[in-house]
Amino acid sequence: MIDRLQQLKDEAITKANEATTIKELKDLRVSYLGKKGPITEVLKGMGKLSADERPKVGQAANEVREAVATVIEEKEQKLEEAALTEKLKSESIDVTLPGRPINKGSRHPLTSVVETIEDIFIGMGFTVAEGPEVETDYYNFESLNLPKDHPARDMQDTFFITNDLLLRTQTSPVQTRTMEKHEGRGPVKIICPGKVYRRDEDDATHSHQFMQIEGLVVDEGIRMSDLKGIFEQFVKKYFGEGREIRLRPSFFPFTEPSAELDVSCAICGGDGCRTCKQTGWIEVLGSGMVHPNVLRMSGFDPEKYTGFAFGMGVERFAMLKYGVDDIRHFYTNDTRFLSQFKRV
Ligand code: DAH
Repeated sequence: MIDRLQQLKDEAITKANEATTIKELKDLRVSYLGKKGPITEVLKGMGKLSADERPKVGQAANEVREAVATVIEEKEQKLEEAALTEKLKSESIDVTLPGRPINKGSRHPLTSVVETIEDIFIGMGFTVAEGPEVETDYYNFESLNLPKDHPARDMQDTFFITNDLLLRTQTSPVQTRTMEKHEGRGPVKIICPGKVYRRDEDDATHSHQFMQIEGLVVDEGIRMSDLKGIFEQFVKKYFGEGREIRLRPSFFPFTEPSAELDVSCAICGGDGCRTCKQTGWIEVLGSGMVHPNVLRMSGFDPEKYTGFAFGMGVERFAMLKYGVDDIRHFYTNDTRFLSQFKRV
């Protein structure tokens, strides 16, 4: 019996040493040391032994059990350690490696320009209004003193949706919508940024979709000098202290008189260069005193109230400020262009 035990011990130890997984060791433990294992089986036959032999075999059996258990345990530990080392190796990080840059996006330049201009006007007591991009013929044209067959409608090639619905060609309809809300009572002092649409061929200076910012001030006693004062402040804040302004007579159906605002050229300082076409001045927006018809149609008494309005192209303001030479850059989403406007 002792030989048989010895044999079982060698067998179990060899198998334990050869084991490569914890599971194998567990199985070994069950099969050799368990209740149904061969060692137990041997011990069951001890009853047939003499009283002399019994303790010896018993002792031998215990030794074998212990030896096998120890070997299995040791091997288990080794495998666990190896697994841990492997895991640590695979999960190790090299803290000396430089970090990967986080690719931060940037504000679109048109958004920045709108926000900058909004801030300037908010600082002068204006509030920001909005209106729909799908407009009716009435708000986009008629309420702005542009009746159905008015030739000035040709200036703004229009995307019509139905006879009466269109994509607004200008932010000016927000003037009417805002005045209607005021129900004939001033003051009104708003700017309105937004997208507008025109059926133009896209080229370096035209885009079928672009942005405007509209402005409107209506109150008792508003004069053209108020318009000029606001422009002076605005231009110096947006373009810089050194810039001069000039008002040039113009025509818009919704203003009378109308004026275009020019800003002295920053490139040549007014001497004349290619950018300002040798004039020393750059045209930046359209404006004028709100036409009495427009006030009346929007519910304001033109005998009591006067006002001024203006409208500017956001792309033009962005192009002048950042020296961008093609309006299409704002709409082609080329990250080489956009990433130049990252804030640091
Ligand atoms: N709506 C005009 C345009 O798109 C711009 C404009 C001119 C707006 C004069 C005004 C204004 O409010 O008074 O060409």
